[in-house]
Amino acid sequence: MTHFTSEEKAGVYRAIRERRDVRSGFLPDPLPQELLMRLLGSAHQAPSVGLMQPWRFIVIKTRTIREKIFEDFQDASVQEYETYSGDRARLYARLTLQGILTAPLNLCVVCDCNSSCGHSLGRHTMPETALYSAVCAIQNLWLAARAESVGLGWVSILHPEHVKSVLNIPTSMTLVGYFCMGFVEQFASEPELESIGWERRLSLEDVLRHETFDQEWSATRR
Ligand SMILES: Cc1cc2nc3c(=O)[nH]c(=O)nc-3n(C[C@H](O)[C@H](O)[C@H](O)COP(=O)(O)O)c2cc1C
Repeated sequence: MTHFTSEEKAGVYRAIRERRDVRSGFLPDPLPQELLMRLLGSAHQAPSVGLMQPWRFIVIKTRTIREKIFEDFQDASVQEYETYSGDRARLYARLTLQGILTAPLNLCVVCDCNSSCGHSLGRHTMPETALYSAVCAIQNLWLAARAESVGLGWVSILHPEHVKSVLNIPTSMTLVGYFCMGFVEQFASEPELESIGWERRLSLEDVLRHETFDQEWSATRR
């Protein structure tokens, strides 16, 4: 396989930089089947431990199913809200934390952590790598969606056992993520949580260490 051209490289970095979690501003247009398959195909090309491919995707369009998930979000969100007080509670109340009913499509990603596919390679001491593999698939999907002007929003303010029962997900499967998905006209230039002052983006140096965890990266440049 050949090297990337400068333009192709720029496209990859742009998708990474401009990917956003999208929970509002969805257009009502349904996603064409061909596009949906292309996006899910990108997810399916993710790396996985032992080539295990443990991700399973549930595409949800039916309103009544989405309403049940939305009700669970409302319950979970009230519980989360009650853990905050003062300014943070006021900020929380202002946030749009999901687009379950406003997006034309929902997607649930589950992980078959016990699949024999991959013959356990790489999972002997770290079984959790099955879950990490499923998250790699989600990130592929998120980046490909951005390139296609499709917004994707991760909704984790849910009770996983309830979602599993609504979607008939076997108990042996682990719920990894629930998403709202649809075309959007524009993507915000920065995370909403940053714009409203919920949290600031750390600098790269804040998360870098030199040789061992206890050595700050910045110390190496002095
Ligand atoms: C695992 C995971 C779960 C998330 N759950 C929620 C959620 O329930 N509601 C929400 O509004 N955003 C959720 N987000 C989105 C994050 O808030 C968002 O990714 C972060 O603020 C950075 O913004 P950006 O994705 O636009 O760069 C989730 C993101 C991840 C990775």
